[in-house]
Amino acid sequence: MKLFLDTAHLADIETAVGWGILEGVTTNPTLAAREGMEFPDLVKAITDIVPGPVSAEVVAETREEMVDLGRALRAIAGNVYVKVPMTREGVAAGAVLAREGVPVNVTLVFSPTQAILAARIGAAFVSPFVGRIDDIANDGMSLLSEIVEIYAVQGYDTEVLAASLRHPQHVAHAARLGADIATMPFSVMEKLFNHPLTDIGMERFNADWEAYQAALADKRSDVSGSGGGTR
Ligand code: E4P
Repeated sequence: MKLFLDTAHLADIETAVGWGILEGVTTNPTLAAREGMEFPDLVKAITDIVPGPVSAEVVAETREEMVDLGRALRAIAGNVYVKVPMTREGVAAGAVLAREGVPVNVTLVFSPTQAILAARIGAAFVSPFVGRIDDIANDGMSLLSEIVEIYAVQGYDTEVLAASLRHPQHVAHAARLGADIATMPFSVMEKLFNHPLTDIGMERFNADWEAYQAALADKRSDVSGSGGGTR
Protein backbone atom coordinates (compact mmCIF):
# COMPACT_ATOMS: atom_id res chain seq x y z
CA MET A 1 0.00 0.00 0.00
CA LYS A 2 1.45 3.35 -1.07
CA LEU A 3 1.46 6.28 1.36
CA PHE A 4 0.15 9.65 0.20
CA LEU A 5 -0.24 12.92 2.08
CA ASP A 6 -3.63 14.62 2.03
CA THR A 7 -2.49 18.23 2.16
CA ALA A 8 -1.48 21.22 0.08
CA HIS A 9 0.97 22.50 2.70
CA LEU A 10 4.38 22.64 1.03
CA ALA A 11 6.50 22.49 4.19
CA ASP A 12 4.76 19.30 5.35
CA ILE A 13 5.14 17.75 1.89
CA GLU A 14 8.87 18.56 1.91
CA THR A 15 9.26 16.99 5.36
CA ALA A 16 7.54 13.77 4.28
CA VAL A 17 9.62 13.59 1.09
CA GLY A 18 12.68 13.90 3.33
CA TRP A 19 11.49 10.89 5.33
CA GLY A 20 11.72 8.86 2.13
CA ILE A 21 8.21 7.45 2.41
CA LEU A 22 6.01 9.81 0.40
CA GLU A 23 4.68 8.43 -2.87
CA GLY A 24 2.05 11.00 -3.76
CA VAL A 25 -0.24 13.81 -2.64
CA THR A 26 -3.95 14.40 -2.68
CA THR A 27 -5.44 17.87 -2.38
CA ASN A 28 -8.99 19.12 -2.30
CA PRO A 29 -10.57 22.60 -2.51
CA THR A 30 -10.69 22.92 1.30
CA LEU A 31 -7.00 22.08 1.68
CA ALA A 32 -5.99 24.38 -1.20
CA ALA A 33 -7.98 27.29 0.26
CA ARG A 34 -5.81 27.18 3.42
CA GLU A 35 -2.63 27.95 1.49
CA GLY A 36 -3.57 31.36 0.03
CA MET A 37 -1.82 30.79 -3.34
CA GLU A 38 -3.22 30.78 -6.87
CA PHE A 39 -4.31 27.17 -7.45
CA PRO A 40 -2.20 26.47 -10.57
CA ASP A 41 0.89 27.87 -8.80
CA LEU A 42 0.17 25.71 -5.77
CA VAL A 43 -0.24 22.58 -7.90
CA LYS A 44 3.00 23.36 -9.75
CA ALA A 45 4.86 23.85 -6.46
CA ILE A 46 3.61 20.50 -5.14
CA THR A 47 4.52 18.66 -8.34
CA ASP A 48 8.01 20.16 -8.15
CA ILE A 49 8.50 18.53 -4.74
CA VAL A 50 6.73 15.19 -5.26
CA PRO A 51 7.62 12.92 -8.19
CA GLY A 52 4.53 10.69 -7.66
CA PRO A 53 0.87 11.40 -8.43
CA VAL A 54 -0.52 14.75 -7.28
CA SER A 55 -4.33 14.90 -7.31
CA ALA A 56 -5.84 18.31 -8.10
CA GLU A 57 -9.60 18.75 -8.11
CA VAL A 58 -11.74 20.46 -10.73
CA VAL A 59 -14.39 22.75 -9.28
CA ALA A 60 -17.10 23.54 -11.84
CA GLU A 61 -20.78 22.96 -12.58
CA THR A 62 -20.78 21.33 -16.00
CA ARG A 63 -18.84 18.46 -17.55
CA GLU A 64 -17.51 20.76 -20.28
CA GLU A 65 -16.07 23.16 -17.71
CA MET A 66 -14.61 20.25 -15.75
CA VAL A 67 -12.97 18.81 -18.84
CA ASP A 68 -11.40 22.19 -19.70
CA LEU A 69 -10.18 22.65 -16.13
CA GLY A 70 -8.89 19.10 -16.02
CA ARG A 71 -6.90 19.56 -19.22
CA ALA A 72 -5.43 22.80 -17.86
CA LEU A 73 -4.45 21.14 -14.59
CA ARG A 74 -2.89 18.22 -16.42
CA ALA A 75 -0.87 20.67 -18.55
CA ILE A 76 0.85 21.94 -15.36
CA ALA A 77 2.91 18.77 -14.91
CA GLY A 78 3.08 15.16 -16.03
CA ASN A 79 2.27 13.86 -12.53
CA VAL A 80 -1.03 15.74 -12.10
CA TYR A 81 -4.01 13.43 -11.58
CA VAL A 82 -7.34 15.17 -12.17
CA LYS A 83 -9.84 14.74 -9.37
CA VAL A 84 -13.48 14.74 -10.41
CA PRO A 85 -16.43 14.49 -8.03
CA MET A 86 -18.73 11.46 -7.99
CA THR A 87 -21.61 13.32 -9.63
CA ARG A 88 -23.17 12.75 -13.03
CA GLU A 89 -21.25 15.71 -14.45
CA GLY A 90 -18.05 14.68 -12.70
CA VAL A 91 -18.23 11.11 -13.97
CA ALA A 92 -19.02 12.29 -17.52
CA ALA A 93 -16.03 14.66 -17.40
CA GLY A 94 -13.84 11.91 -15.93
CA ALA A 95 -14.82 9.57 -18.76
CA VAL A 96 -13.76 12.12 -21.40
CA LEU A 97 -10.48 12.86 -19.62
CA ALA A 98 -9.70 9.18 -19.07
CA ARG A 99 -10.31 8.47 -22.75
CA GLU A 100 -7.76 11.18 -23.57
CA GLY A 101 -5.22 9.43 -21.36
CA VAL A 102 -5.49 11.83 -18.42
CA PRO A 103 -5.24 9.96 -15.10
CA VAL A 104 -8.44 10.59 -13.16
CA ASN A 105 -9.17 10.30 -9.44
CA VAL A 106 -12.89 9.97 -8.66
CA THR A 107 -13.49 11.56 -5.28
CA LEU A 108 -16.35 11.75 -2.76
CA VAL A 109 -17.11 8.05 -3.12
CA PHE A 110 -19.39 6.63 -0.44
CA SER A 111 -20.88 3.46 -1.93
CA PRO A 112 -19.84 0.32 -3.82
CA THR A 113 -21.95 1.27 -6.83
CA GLN A 114 -20.21 4.63 -7.08
CA ALA A 115 -16.89 2.77 -7.01
CA ILE A 116 -18.08 0.54 -9.87
CA LEU A 117 -18.85 3.65 -11.95
CA ALA A 118 -15.36 5.01 -11.29
CA ALA A 119 -13.79 1.76 -12.48
CA ARG A 120 -15.98 1.60 -15.59
CA ILE A 121 -14.85 5.04 -16.83
CA GLY A 122 -11.24 3.88 -16.51
CA ALA A 123 -10.31 6.09 -13.56
CA ALA A 124 -6.78 5.67 -12.26
CA PHE A 125 -7.94 6.04 -8.64
CA VAL A 126 -11.19 5.72 -6.73
CA SER A 127 -11.34 7.57 -3.40
CA PRO A 128 -13.73 6.16 -0.77
CA PHE A 129 -13.93 8.56 2.20
CA VAL A 130 -13.63 6.25 5.18
CA GLY A 131 -13.62 8.82 8.00
CA ARG A 132 -16.64 10.74 6.74
CA ILE A 133 -18.66 7.51 6.80
CA ASP A 134 -17.51 6.86 10.37
CA ASP A 135 -18.59 10.46 11.14
CA ILE A 136 -22.21 9.57 10.39
CA ALA A 137 -22.02 6.47 12.61
CA ASN A 138 -21.52 4.04 9.75
CA ASP A 139 -18.57 1.76 9.10
CA GLY A 140 -16.13 3.29 6.63
CA MET A 141 -13.86 0.25 6.67
CA SER A 142 -16.75 -2.02 5.59
CA LEU A 143 -17.18 0.14 2.51
CA LEU A 144 -13.46 -0.03 1.79
CA SER A 145 -13.51 -3.79 2.19
CA GLU A 146 -16.48 -4.15 -0.15
CA ILE A 147 -14.84 -2.02 -2.84
CA VAL A 148 -11.53 -3.92 -2.60
CA GLU A 149 -13.44 -7.19 -2.93
CA ILE A 150 -15.51 -6.05 -5.92
CA TYR A 151 -12.43 -4.73 -7.70
CA ALA A 152 -10.59 -8.02 -7.15
CA VAL A 153 -13.54 -10.15 -8.32
CA GLN A 154 -14.08 -7.96 -11.38
CA GLY A 155 -10.38 -7.52 -12.17
CA TYR A 156 -10.66 -3.72 -12.35
CA ASP A 157 -7.39 -1.84 -12.87
CA THR A 158 -8.48 1.28 -10.95
CA GLU A 159 -6.47 1.62 -7.74
CA VAL A 160 -8.36 1.93 -4.46
CA LEU A 161 -7.22 5.03 -2.61
CA ALA A 162 -8.41 4.96 1.01
CA ALA A 163 -9.18 8.60 1.85
CA SER A 164 -10.42 10.58 4.80
CA LEU A 165 -8.22 8.54 7.15
CA ARG A 166 -8.16 10.06 10.61
CA HIS A 167 -5.73 8.00 12.72
CA PRO A 168 -2.98 5.36 12.41
CA GLN A 169 -5.41 2.50 13.05
CA HIS A 170 -7.30 3.55 9.92
CA VAL A 171 -4.03 3.27 7.96
CA ALA A 172 -3.21 -0.20 9.33
CA HIS A 173 -6.76 -1.39 8.70
CA ALA A 174 -6.75 -0.07 5.11
CA ALA A 175 -3.48 -1.95 4.48
CA ARG A 176 -4.94 -5.16 5.92
CA LEU A 177 -7.96 -4.87 3.63
CA GLY A 178 -5.74 -4.49 0.56
CA ALA A 179 -6.14 -0.82 -0.32
CA ASP A 180 -3.62 0.22 -2.98
CA ILE A 181 -3.02 3.66 -1.50
CA ALA A 182 -3.72 5.42 1.79
CA THR A 183 -3.87 9.21 1.88
CA MET A 184 -3.68 10.92 5.24
CA PRO A 185 -3.10 14.27 6.92
CA PHE A 186 0.48 15.08 7.96
CA SER A 187 -0.46 14.66 11.64
CA VAL A 188 -1.49 11.04 10.96
CA MET A 189 1.63 10.25 8.91
CA GLU A 190 3.82 11.54 11.75
CA LYS A 191 2.06 9.20 14.18
CA LEU A 192 2.88 6.16 12.02
CA PHE A 193 6.42 6.34 13.41
CA ASN A 194 5.50 6.48 17.06
CA HIS A 195 5.71 3.78 19.70
CA PRO A 196 6.60 4.36 23.38
CA LEU A 197 8.74 1.21 23.48
CA THR A 198 10.83 2.58 20.61
CA ASP A 199 11.40 5.78 22.63
CA ILE A 200 12.28 3.83 25.79
CA GLY A 201 14.54 1.51 23.77
CA MET A 202 16.35 4.47 22.18
CA GLU A 203 16.91 6.14 25.56
CA ARG A 204 18.39 2.96 26.97
CA PHE A 205 20.61 2.27 23.94
CA ASN A 206 21.91 5.85 23.96
CA ALA A 207 22.61 5.79 27.71
CA ASP A 208 24.37 2.40 27.49
CA TRP A 209 26.42 3.54 24.52
CA GLU A 210 27.55 6.68 26.35
CA ALA A 211 28.52 4.65 29.46
CA TYR A 212 30.41 2.16 27.25
CA GLN A 213 32.32 4.95 25.46
CA ALA A 214 33.13 6.64 28.81
CA ALA A 215 34.43 3.34 30.23
CA LEU A 216 36.65 2.80 27.16
CA ALA A 217 37.98 6.34 27.45
CA ASP A 218 38.89 5.71 31.13
CA LYS A 219 40.60 2.46 30.17
CA ARG A 220 42.62 4.20 27.46
CA SER A 221 43.78 6.93 29.80
CA ASP A 222 44.77 4.28 32.44
CA VAL A 223 46.86 2.41 29.86
CA SER A 224 48.61 5.54 28.60
CA GLY A 225 49.18 6.69 32.23
CA SER A 226 50.79 3.38 33.31
CA GLY A 227 52.89 3.21 30.08
CA GLY A 228 54.45 6.58 30.99
CA GLY A 229 55.44 5.27 34.47
CA THR A 230 57.66 2.36 33.22
CA ARG A 231 60.33 4.64 31.84
C1 E4P B 1 -9.02 12.79 -0.23
O1 E4P B 1 -8.59 12.94 -1.33
C2 E4P B 1 -9.68 13.86 0.55
O2 E4P B 1 -9.01 15.07 0.29
C3 E4P B 1 -9.60 13.66 2.03
O3 E4P B 1 -9.05 12.42 2.39
C4 E4P B 1 -10.79 14.11 2.79
O4 E4P B 1 -10.56 13.91 4.16
P1 E4P B 1 -11.46 14.54 5.28
O5 E4P B 1 -12.76 13.79 5.33
O6 E4P B 1 -10.69 14.35 6.56
O7 E4P B 1 -11.65 15.99 4.95
